[in-house]
Amino acid sequence: MSAEFPSVRPRRLRSTPAMRRLVAETRLHPAELILPVFVREGITEPKPITSMPGVVQHTRDTLRRAAVEAAEAGIGGLMLFGVPEVQDAVGSEGTNPEGILQLAIRDVVSEVGDQLVVMSDLCLDEFTDHGHCGVLAADGSVDNDATLERYAEMAVVQADAGVHLVGPSGMMDGQVAVIRKALDAAGHQDTGILAYTAKYASAFYGPFREAVGSSLKGDRRTYQQDPANARESLRELAQDVAEGADLVMVKPAMSYLDVLRQVADASPVPVVAYQVSGEYAMVEAAAANGWIDRERTVLETLTSIRRAGAEQILTYWAVEVAGKLR
Ligand code: PBG
Repeated sequence: MSAEFPSVRPRRLRSTPAMRRLVAETRLHPAELILPVFVREGITEPKPITSMPGVVQHTRDTLRRAAVEAAEAGIGGLMLFGVPEVQDAVGSEGTNPEGILQLAIRDVVSEVGDQLVVMSDLCLDEFTDHGHCGVLAADGSVDNDATLERYAEMAVVQADAGVHLVGPSGMMDGQVAVIRKALDAAGHQDTGILAYTAKYASAFYGPFREAVGSSLKGDRRTYQQDPANARESLRELAQDVAEGADLVMVKPAMSYLDVLRQVADASPVPVVAYQVSGEYAMVEAAAANGWIDRERTVLETLTSIRRAGAEQILTYWAVEVAGKLR
């Protein structure tokens, strides 16, 4: 045998399905998957979201059924988004105890609250007529500190409705501290905070805007992070942890795997990634054209997000993938 032939042969560990299975470093499990769901006030039939084939705006009834299906699939939790009939400047429906999101929390907690972790989006953009994640100052800018007062109120009504984790996604400075204080003052010490910690001003949220009927004109660049920056994610992480975040999130996922890795290396609390609407839509659109293998692509995206450091993943494919993993 000639000396040129290699004695180190990594291909041995790739040779059979059994060998590859044995040495896989990253495995997906249903328990770490979280399904985002939309519930819309005032509809009697679920309404398909055209930019997210297979995803709908639920009625309260179909949401209950979807929650049961999710529990049966063995996923880890649900993230609820409410779509109200009426929007106004301060997002009043977000703090109405009888508002759609609060009703949906009660429905889902009573249906599957002992099997799944029930989470709710804590943000104003679904509820405001201008579509921003906060209330506006006289000059039209998003008023950070006035918004914090609205978030404190939202946190308490969501916790009153029984939610397990609130998910502040508005990227206001100080939001975790204010929410923690409000929850504690209201006797909700056991309600946790899943903080959207590194949330980027991303074009990948496009389909979500249809999903929640957002009226936003313009963008969120004065509060969400610039895709050019990684370092400030570590600053946001340190701050959210100091303010009492129970879990932290990086969002979107696939274009930010480097950020995910850095946050995962530094975080003392679980790190979640959100595979957002545009990531879902891209894969579905390419697969519908026959350009990629849908099932393989879906699993590859989730495996990559896990490998980069996420321990839990929000994905619109959660229930489908859980079914395949079992
Ligand atoms: C804000 C919020 C957004 C998403 C989740 N929470 C939209 C935004 O920040 O513009 C996006 C989720 C997705 O695209 O799947 N409430």
